[in-house]
Amino acid sequence: MIELKNVSKTFTLHNQGSAVIEVISGVSFAIAPGECVALTGASGAGKSTLMRMIYGNYLTQSGSIHIGDLDIVQAEPREVIALRREVLGYVSQFLRVVPRVPTRDVVADPLRALGVSAEEAQARARHLLGQLNIPERLWSLSPTTFSGGEQQRVNIARGFAHEYPALLLDEPTASLDAANREVVLSLIEEAKARGAAIVGIFHDEAARDRVCDRQVDVSAFTPGLAA
Ligand SMILES: Nc1ncnc2c1ncn2[C@@H]1O[C@H](COP(=O)(O)OP(=O)(O)OP(=O)(O)O)[C@@H](O)[C@H]1O
Ligand SMILES: [Mg+2]
Repeated sequence: MIELKNVSKTFTLHNQGSAVIEVISGVSFAIAPGECVALTGASGAGKSTLMRMIYGNYLTQSGSIHIGDLDIVQAEPREVIALRREVLGYVSQFLRVVPRVPTRDVVADPLRALGVSAEEAQARARHLLGQLNIPERLWSLSPTTFSGGEQQRVNIARGFAHEYPALLLDEPTASLDAANREVVLSLIEEAKARGAAIVGIFHDEAARDRVCDRQVDVSAFTPGLAA
């Protein structure tokens, strides 16, 4: 479902004498439907960078990244947009909040974009927000003023609203209490059971060991960090 072949990434710092830093060099791995792979490695190894490359937010200098049939490295912008709508979900570390959009619409929007009816999309949003213990009195408010953990849970609800065949999760359990962490881990397990291919970054080792089938140590592909 997700296949990286010989992927490399450099950043050119235009405001610092065009210094070129090589962050990742020669990463290859594949993830089958129903599998979860953890990206591990020291801080600065390039885990979040690699995840943004898979999502197509960062350019990839060489190699290929297939999500299903589409190589995101070579894809046209409209193909990337369609892929993100239908196939590839991404729960980033922080919610990007749009002021004035009520929480229940933030969660229902990905389904509305797929043509799901308003009633069905709202029902799914209510179900997920309830599961993730967001108090009902908050559902009609914008998440702008929510706590860090509440925003993270809204972000997770949004990321799980549509049953994406491929999912990227950047520290989905980071600032959650034990009960909510448990809810998120079961959402991940359910997604795997229905055949989603998942890439995750988890600082919490117990969470990682529970939901991930394998690990890819990004440090091994970091020039300068490699032993
Ligand atoms: N937009 C950017 N421009 C220049 N350098 C960048 C950019 N984004 C990331 N980097 C560099 O790439 C390296 C990897 O960063 P990244 O955020 O991927 O690390 P990480 O493994 O996710 O670390 P952490 O565990 O701390 O989140 C760092 O040295 C960082 O400074
Ligand atoms: Mg990171």
